[in-house]
Amino acid sequence: MEKNYKRHLITAALPYANGGVHIGHLAGVYVPADIYARYLRLKGEDVKFICGSDEHGVPITIKAKKLGCTPQDVVDKYHKIIKESFEGLGISFDIYSRTSSDIHSKTASDFFRKLYDDGKFIEKESEQFFDVEANTFLADRYITGTCPKCGAEGAYGDQCEKCGSTLSPDELINPKSAISGSEPIKKKTKHWYLPLDKYEQWLREWILDGHKEWKTNVYGQCKSWLDGGLQPRAVSRDLEWGVPVPVEGAEGKVLYVWFDAPIGYISNTIELLGNDWEKWWKSEDTKLVHFIGKDNIVFHCIVFPSMLKAHGGYILPENVPANEFLNLEGRKISTSRNWAIWLDEYLKDFPGQQDVLRYVLCANAPETKDNDFTWKDFQTRNNSELVAIYGNFVNRAIVLTHKYFAGKVPAITTLQDIDKEVLAQLPQFRTELEKSISTYRFREALKTAMDIARLGNKYLTDTEPWKLAKTDMERVATILNVSLQICANLAIAFEPFLPFSSAKLRAMLNMEKLEWNSFGSSEILAAGSQLNKAELMFAKIEDEVIDAQLKKLADTDAANQAAAEAEAAAAPVKPAPQKEECTFDEFGKMDIRTATVLEAVRVPKTDKLLKLTIDTGIDTRTIVSGIAEYYSPEDMLGKQICILANLQPRKIRGIESKGMILMAKNEKGEMKFVTPEKLIENGACVG
Ligand code: MF3
Ligand code: ZN
Repeated sequence: MEKNYKRHLITAALPYANGGVHIGHLAGVYVPADIYARYLRLKGEDVKFICGSDEHGVPITIKAKKLGCTPQDVVDKYHKIIKESFEGLGISFDIYSRTSSDIHSKTASDFFRKLYDDGKFIEKESEQFFDVEANTFLADRYITGTCPKCGAEGAYGDQCEKCGSTLSPDELINPKSAISGSEPIKKKTKHWYLPLDKYEQWLREWILDGHKEWKTNVYGQCKSWLDGGLQPRAVSRDLEWGVPVPVEGAEGKVLYVWFDAPIGYISNTIELLGNDWEKWWKSEDTKLVHFIGKDNIVFHCIVFPSMLKAHGGYILPENVPANEFLNLEGRKISTSRNWAIWLDEYLKDFPGQQDVLRYVLCANAPETKDNDFTWKDFQTRNNSELVAIYGNFVNRAIVLTHKYFAGKVPAITTLQDIDKEVLAQLPQFRTELEKSISTYRFREALKTAMDIARLGNKYLTDTEPWKLAKTDMERVATILNVSLQICANLAIAFEPFLPFSSAKLRAMLNMEKLEWNSFGSSEILAAGSQLNKAELMFAKIEDEVIDAQLKKLADTDAANQAAAEAEAAAAPVKPAPQKEECTFDEFGKMDIRTATVLEAVRVPKTDKLLKLTIDTGIDTRTIVSGIAEYYSPEDMLGKQICILANLQPRKIRGIESKGMILMAKNEKGEMKFVTPEKLIENGACVG
């Protein structure tokens, strides 16, 4: 049985302020969170929807270094971009603040200090990498070297981006400081750890026994963390950017970003509400829900709750409906490769079409598994759902009312069975939709809302009021009244999902009040009230528009490929490792001798093969060789080369090849043939 909550505290993961927001973030976190917040507000609940920028952490300092500016400059820039783009999409935060604010710094600092004073931390010395030249400890990200797993250069101390392995800096081969390039040493340093192991039993009870209703992806991840056993986690770092550790002797140390960031939810609430904040975080009749992506589950279900528990006095999240990931055109979204659709760019490219993105992202939300966004699907959902179903129904109802009743809502005379049946479905839709939203199944809820428009279209098609206009205006009046009541219900049902379109629809209907409680009613619009002109809620999206977006992605792809090729070309080629030992006799078996190319032609329908006629001194023979990428037939003509003469003959593309041209070949596959230093007669033995 759901408790009776007095207020709803909704948080959405604080995005890192070192880049923009893309469709993956939106579909996973912000669109569902916004739907939930809007829905509860519409129901008249007391809601605070909290977010802000996550402005600490090492990647921001690395970005600043790269750009030659301060971390504050970086976060100032992206905080503004993120905040404005969220506003542009109608994400209705009650506050969007930032973790570089003074209030946050004080809140996080006090939080740490309380745990420190209460003896909740373990203090531990450990050896960390230190850059002597730059006189600074090195975060894992600041150490680069060769990946022990795949051999790639430039792997980071926490991860190799080539093969995706998670690493620790100790595993790197030839570790180097990313700051000075020097070889780091190990140096002792002190840090504070939250002993998560001590909370394990409590977490098991709270989550595994107490929250079996959590989404299976969330519950499953928690269970596997808990079954794996929890370890103490360091909550401080040797770094200059962040909230200073408020303890004597902790100079040069800051709170770990994952310690301070979730406290950002609290500090932003304080910034929003002042003294009134406490009941939102400390009163059992507040329902706290965290919206996050799946990579944040451990922090929100295990680490942050343990922090809150250690502190005492705080409520815990009632649910953490984390989503999986959204892919783009079949590939994982990658910010470093710019394989993404950025919200600020979308808003520029599709002005006034916020709801299309909101619709498509919700309809495709990765609620139970990773999902794919494609531009084709975006177009189809717009053209055949928003335009053809929702927009079309509303347009028909309003245009017909203007045509037959000068835009005044006509009165019902008698309801026939078909009318009653249709109207009876409205409260059922409401029940269904409420059930879906309150269990965080937003895709299903959206589908239900669209089903109301489907019902409206079917009703008009079945009743055909345009055919009755000459004979039975009373019947037409009833049908249009019913249709307009459906429109009014649509404006309410869609408001949490598509607020811009709902506002347009309400303006057309002249519908002042908007409250969830009217949903299901067949008397929202009073007979005799005047409608406004019909306007298009959604416009068809043409192929050109989609093609332009696909081209943008293709260009990104081409640029990435060119960059990768340039990087590969610039990388030094490592020689292949030495082969297994061989005996003198084994070597002696090989008949290597000089020879001259008499004729050379390409083997038809191949890119790589040349057919060479060779004078070996002992005979004239044919050898097929895979060198056509590097040498044209003309290059080879008349050249003296070396061959392995006694290689077992074999057929290549139907041509008998006797022997092999000796080539020097590097790891990149480039080839040069081996030739005697001075001309010598053909057939001279090499050895
Ligand atoms: N910045 C983190 C991310 O993008 C999320 C932080 S959520 C918070 O993955 F709880 F720490 F704020
Ligand atoms: Zn690797």
